Amino acid sequence: MTRTHDVALVRGDGIGPEISEATQRVLEAAGASIRWHDAPAGADGMARKGHELPISTIQTIRRFGVALKAPLTAGRCTGGVVVEDNGASRRHPSVNNGIRRELGLFVNVRPVHGWKDLSGEYAALDIVIMREITEDIYSGIERKIDDNTAEAVKRITRPACERVARYSCEFAGRHGRREVSAIHKANVLHLTDGLFLETVRNVSTGYPGLHFSETAVDAACYLLVKKPRHFDVMVMPNQYGDILSDLAAALVGSLGLAPGANIGADAAVFEAAHGAAPDIAGQGIANPIGLILAGAMLLDHIGEPEAAARVRAAVDAALADRRLWTPDLGGSARTLELTEALCGAAEVA
Ligand code: NAI
Repeated sequence: MTRTHDVALVRGDGIGPEISEATQRVLEAAGASIRWHDAPAGADGMARKGHELPISTIQTIRRFGVALKAPLTAGRCTGGVVVEDNGASRRHPSVNNGIRRELGLFVNVRPVHGWKDLSGEYAALDIVIMREITEDIYSGIERKIDDNTAEAVKRITRPACERVARYSCEFAGRHGRREVSAIHKANVLHLTDGLFLETVRNVSTGYPGLHFSETAVDAACYLLVKKPRHFDVMVMPNQYGDILSDLAAALVGSLGLAPGANIGADAAVFEAAHGAAPDIAGQGIANPIGLILAGAMLLDHIGEPEAAARVRAAVDAALADRRLWTPDLGGSARTLELTEALCGAAEVA
């Protein structure tokens, strides 16, 4: 008998509601039985709970341990978001960052691979970016010194580096990957990125079956563009991961294709790598594939690998058919048209 899984759902802002609905439909068509639990945040959280990041949303995700999350907008220069919890209040730089921190999520896993008919010279690219997400320059420690000067703290700790390094090496082993590369700027940031690099290097010695390498972040950008086969699993501090994962997604065709998973000890939140795309929200032309592939990662995580494989096969088939390409891929298909084709292709025979 099919098991029903409980999964929290953050519908998101901008194109979020459109691509969430598409994802729910495709996962269900692939045979997964999911009971969705609304976890409002962003504009939806504000409208329904009077808060951008209600504590009830964090509690819902924690209770079920797994969430599908569509993108949320983050206001620029707003001072961030405050979570009110039983009289205590905690400030985070953004709603996304708040979800990650409140749930103790420590690594953002972003697989990026090329597509035969779509990615041209990057069809052979096949990497997994492991982005540390608890610290670095995004730790939210900023201060204004005077009207013309402000500074931010880049915080790096050995335990956080060890955790992301161990996760990356174990992931590489589990997925038959050959190499883990540490990406850094230790030639300039001797203490912070130096600590990151030293820690990842030490952890990697415990995995003798894996090849370990280290590359400066600027050289890594160059190599990604010039030699698409060069990297395999890449582990890096928060900010470099944020930037490199968008770069890699663009190389293979579109930000709209890239999935991601935020993993912690007690919860996992699956999301697309892109943002809320307010410029195309409500037009019915958003590419839902990034979130749908995040949904496939979710299915693997909850023990539904056959349904996950059906979703991925449906995406492969859709991307081989130019008539189903959305405008970000250079086509003219609408979200609904693509979703229906994906549902048909993913259906259990
Ligand atoms: P964005 O990723 O939303 O958009 C960048 C460009 O890519 C836009 O032209 C957009 O139309 C296009 N695009 C992105 N996803 C697409 C898709 N699925 N289909 C077709 N086109 C797509 O980045 P932007 O504009 O910098 O951010 C917009 C908002 O999203 C901001 O408030 C930002 O803070 C937030 N954001 C949220 C993230 C999350 O929730 N994880 C991640 C990144 C940004």
